[in-house]
Amino acid sequence: MAILLAGGCGYIGSHTAVELIQAGYEVVIADNLSNSSAKVIDRLFSITGVHIPFYEIDVCDRVGLEQVFQQHKIEAVIHFAALKSISESVELPVLYYRNNLDAVLSLIEVMNQFSCKRFVFSSSATVYGDATPPCVETMPTALPTNPYGRTKLMTEQILSDVALADKDFSVVLLRYFNPIGAHESGLIGEAPSGVPANLFPYLTQVAAGERAYLNIYGDDYPTVDGTGVRDYIHVCDLAAGHVYALDYAAQHTGVEIFNLGLGFGYSVRQVVAAFERVVGIPIPTRIAPRRAGDIAESFSNPAKAQQVLGWKAKRNMDDMCRDAWRWQKMNPHGYAD
Ligand code: NAD
Ligand code: UD1
Repeated sequence: MAILLAGGCGYIGSHTAVELIQAGYEVVIADNLSNSSAKVIDRLFSITGVHIPFYEIDVCDRVGLEQVFQQHKIEAVIHFAALKSISESVELPVLYYRNNLDAVLSLIEVMNQFSCKRFVFSSSATVYGDATPPCVETMPTALPTNPYGRTKLMTEQILSDVALADKDFSVVLLRYFNPIGAHESGLIGEAPSGVPANLFPYLTQVAAGERAYLNIYGDDYPTVDGTGVRDYIHVCDLAAGHVYALDYAAQHTGVEIFNLGLGFGYSVRQVVAAFERVVGIPIPTRIAPRRAGDIAESFSNPAKAQQVLGWKAKRNMDDMCRDAWRWQKMNPHGYAD
């Protein structure tokens, strides 16, 4: 019996593969490498000593997926395979709706063919919109402001309908807050293509001297110091949450939603200060206008994941800074080196 990681060569999927293997699971990866590298499979072998079966397929392609299910007895699917750039989704909405929605539909169709009924989905805190934090799973969702976010909410709805229609189906929706950091080996991490849109990869590139300064998008928010506040979580803690989610799905049918976050936030200035202290490199910053679509403050209430799953994040901001920097230093150009 194996777990299929759709999009398993990506940032979160690759870290989840390590956690699953270390927990004794057999893992199979399907990825079209649209935002990742096949080198991840070699790196995962270096970390775990396991040769993970890898299929370079588009998970929207049902025929390709069927072949994976024919080759392996898949007991559950963890679905990471999505396009995730907010700005690109605004420019190319059809690409995003096609990829992100087709992917979940074809996965469910092929799972049904093979009587596989456990599904864990990578959702996002974006479905809470501008809700006053801490965000709790019972809060009403809000229609996200961009097509990427809307595919997350739509996929949550699709999966809820699937579980409603088939009482044997188990769906776990994981709402990620802000994953950062990298595996402590420095062998896998986040490898954005082009100019990073997110805070941490940009920050580490400034520290490496590849970019002159960090733009702080707005210092007039109603927060502790005027800069945006987010709930940053170490990617290895986030990855571990998937192991707990799978165990839960094996014992329960229906839909369950869990926040994966630390439960408190850091402002941009606090992140920069922590990074400078831990890594010992000064980060030049400039105040820039607010970024369109940004909210002032977002952080989770992760109590449900702790109480129901028994999961809790173990790593702190210092660990996140140290591990992100190790990854950056060892792989200045991501997997291209
Ligand atoms: P990523 O881009 O690193 O990983 C996604 C992987 O899916 C990539 O390897 C890509 O090649 C693959 N992929 C995309 N479309 C595919 C398709 N049709 N067929 C096969 N493979 C496909 O992204 P990530 O940061 O690891 O995110 C994983 C998931 O978590 C995504 O669904 C993302 O939307 C969600 N998420 C991420 C964050 C974050 O901050 N990184 C936050 C909330 C939610
Ligand atoms: C963004 C997405 C979110 C997505 C997440 C992970 C937006 C509006 N939201 O979240 O939907 O799930 O990425 O892909 O894009 N910041 C700077 N300078 C920078 C970069 C960021 O000051 O160069 C600030 C932002 O204004 C924000 C914080 O840092 O306050 C975190 O930003 P980011 O890492 O992009 O994450 P989110 O905006 O939370």
